[in-house]
Amino acid sequence: MSQERTFIAVKPDGVQRGLIGEIIKRFEQKGFKPCGMKFMQASEEHMKKHYEDLADKPFYPGLCKYMSSGPLCAMCWEGTGVVKTARKMMGETKPADSAPGSIRGDYCIEIGRNIIHGSDAVETANKEIALWFKPEELFSWTQGNHSWIF
Ligand code: TYD
Repeated sequence: MSQERTFIAVKPDGVQRGLIGEIIKRFEQKGFKPCGMKFMQASEEHMKKHYEDLADKPFYPGLCKYMSSGPLCAMCWEGTGVVKTARKMMGETKPADSAPGSIRGDYCIEIGRNIIHGSDAVETANKEIALWFKPEELFSWTQGNHSWIF
């Protein structure tokens, strides 16, 4: 069965606050499987492409500048329903609207520094994964005989 994949990034503020491990831990313990991961600094051009659907928003220039201002952790996670579930685990765009227990609900306050990105739909996820990862940077792997682990 081909599994759904999503693109997750720990944003520069999440990296600076030491939250990479916490975020990886949540996805790993949920039962999702990492299929790609890299620590990198994105160019402003790359961020403009990533957020191109928001190009007409007033916060777009600052967002792209900020996202390219320091290293981030780009990840691809795989599993049944991972796109929707990851969005639930992240919380809302506005940290103030995010329930305690969600990543944004637990760790941030500002909308412009909301520590994590996650694709909002399967189609977006496929587009984002192709933008951030080369095919050879992604891995399909299994945990031996433990077929109940997704
Ligand atoms: P968006 O894609 O709407 O949210 P999400 O990250 O939850 O999918 O917006 C992208 C990022 O832009 C968002 O994570 C934070 C930033 N942003 C602002 O800085 N101000 C705003 O008013 C909005 C809506 C978003």
